[in-house]
Amino acid sequence: MCGIIGAIAQRDVQPILIEGLRRLEYRGYDSAGMVVMDPQGRLQRERSVGKVEALAQRVAGSGLTGTLGIAHTRWATHGGPTERNAHPHLSGERIAVVHNGIIENYQALRDDLKARGFEFTSDTDTEVIAHQIMDYCQQGHDLLEAVRRATAHFSGAYALGVISRDEPDRLIAVREGSPLIIGLGIGEHFIASDIQAMLPVTQRFVYLENGDIAELRRDSHRILDADGQAVDRPVTESSLTAGAADRGRFRHFMLKEIHEQPRAVAETLEGRLAPDGVLEGIMGPGSEEILAQVKSVQILACGTSYHAGLVASYWIEGLLGLPCRVEVASEFRYRRHAVLPDCLLVTISQSGETADSLAALRQAREDDYLGSLAICNVPESSLVRESDMVLMTHAGPEIGVASTKAFTTQLVALFLLVLSLGRHHGLAPARAQSFVEQLRALPAALEKVLALDTPIERLAMGLADKHHALFLGRGCHYPIALEGALKLKEISYIHAEAYPAGELKHGPLALVDADMPVVVVAPNNHLLEKLKSNLEEVRARGGHLMVFTDDVAALGSDGAIQSLAVPPVDDWLSAIIHTVPLQLLSYHTAILKGTDVDQPRNLAKSVTVE
Ligand code: AGP
Repeated sequence: MCGIIGAIAQRDVQPILIEGLRRLEYRGYDSAGMVVMDPQGRLQRERSVGKVEALAQRVAGSGLTGTLGIAHTRWATHGGPTERNAHPHLSGERIAVVHNGIIENYQALRDDLKARGFEFTSDTDTEVIAHQIMDYCQQGHDLLEAVRRATAHFSGAYALGVISRDEPDRLIAVREGSPLIIGLGIGEHFIASDIQAMLPVTQRFVYLENGDIAELRRDSHRILDADGQAVDRPVTESSLTAGAADRGRFRHFMLKEIHEQPRAVAETLEGRLAPDGVLEGIMGPGSEEILAQVKSVQILACGTSYHAGLVASYWIEGLLGLPCRVEVASEFRYRRHAVLPDCLLVTISQSGETADSLAALRQAREDDYLGSLAICNVPESSLVRESDMVLMTHAGPEIGVASTKAFTTQLVALFLLVLSLGRHHGLAPARAQSFVEQLRALPAALEKVLALDTPIERLAMGLADKHHALFLGRGCHYPIALEGALKLKEISYIHAEAYPAGELKHGPLALVDADMPVVVVAPNNHLLEKLKSNLEEVRARGGHLMVFTDDVAALGSDGAIQSLAVPPVDDWLSAIIHTVPLQLLSYHTAILKGTDVDQPRNLAKSVTVE
């Protein structure tokens, strides 16, 4: 979604804003823009369609400079990705606004403001914000009060950065639904949608709560809560450094993040395992009491995180015998649902700011769940703060839009949940101990999968000129097939669908011919013989099979089947291992197709609007 960066300082903020935008670009990359108050006190604006680099060149050419400014990278919702729709939006050269989120009632506000003489120059919902604030400024209110009054008109979700030509010493920030963070400096303050954007200038942050309005001056900041009362929000020191979001020696963030998985998995396990199981209390104080009462589990998530939830449902039902439901959050939030008895609610999200997942959590909190657990990668996110229990994935910042290390660390965290529940629900200690050993061996096994990069690159050559692909799996490897198909769609734009292999003959087999590659996740387990029959069905119809297995001998490799061996691990955990070759297959296919791997078209990293 859109990204906001703003700064008020004693030095020139233009380079800070440009660097911040580069670091936010993964959130949205349709267009970008900035407004800086120049030394004459004028609001100077530059905007550009496309990547931040285009804006950076334009800004360098125009010599924009000043000590107060706001900037934005856009992911279009209302109005196409054009320069006139790019933020910041102005009202009368006097007020400038950047916005992340959606003003749902913008049409009514727009009609009203138009009728009262305000002129609109864009198709966005954001422009009403600038004019509404201007309206109150014209009535004699200062900027803070004008923003406060204006926001009372808005419904929807929004994070705002606002500056006024008449008030060169303040930057106003508002948070309602969409994330916004204050960065604290010495003699300077910043705002941004995430801390990555501010790491080059500070490591001290204040997370705004919903309804907060903040007034930032060069040497102070003040926060008012939703009731207009001054509040102190805690200051958080981040251990992340500016370099955490660099590509390093890798060509793309996605490739770097794929290769970080052994380390990320090791860090997600770090400090949580005892020799015979999972340490008590890893989900926070009081969590063991809740886990002991659990008789069922409801998982909610979106996209890749939803696929992690699906894998976990096989584990929870298969290993513990506890009923487990998984649903995409955008469906769950809008339907009446029956709560299972003594049910633990689990939400899974890399960002912890996904609008649908957050809304589903908030709605479910009204229901009769035992408690809520967030599995998340961002400690200060809304999802974490609003859940009763937390199990952090320690993947580190994930910048590539296509989720990779976040997924494998979610699976690891979910397996820790299974072992924690297992302690209260009859998982034999010897079994738990063996799982602990297998978990500890995962990073080394992942390293071995990464060494398959070159043969996987060769497989990708058979995929890159195709328009469609089928992915098949069985059991807990079916969600891995779903995730593989999602990765391929997202970054190579090849149409890909995943099916449980047994479903093939119930319809999708009709699609199979020489132009339909079929990618199969085929560990040697109790379902392998069944799966082999499914492969024969494909082979008999001239289909080309790409098979990832831990037993090539059992499947063979010939003209119609290309098999690649991944290291054998316990069958329950092999879902984690089998994920990685599918990530590499998508990556190399996208490279061959020449698509924008880290910033695929139409997508955004953190989906903070509906
Ligand atoms: C993953 O590759 C996707 N870009 C997307 O499906 C993502 O997983 C989804 O939007 C959920 O995000 P979250 O994990 O941050 O909630």
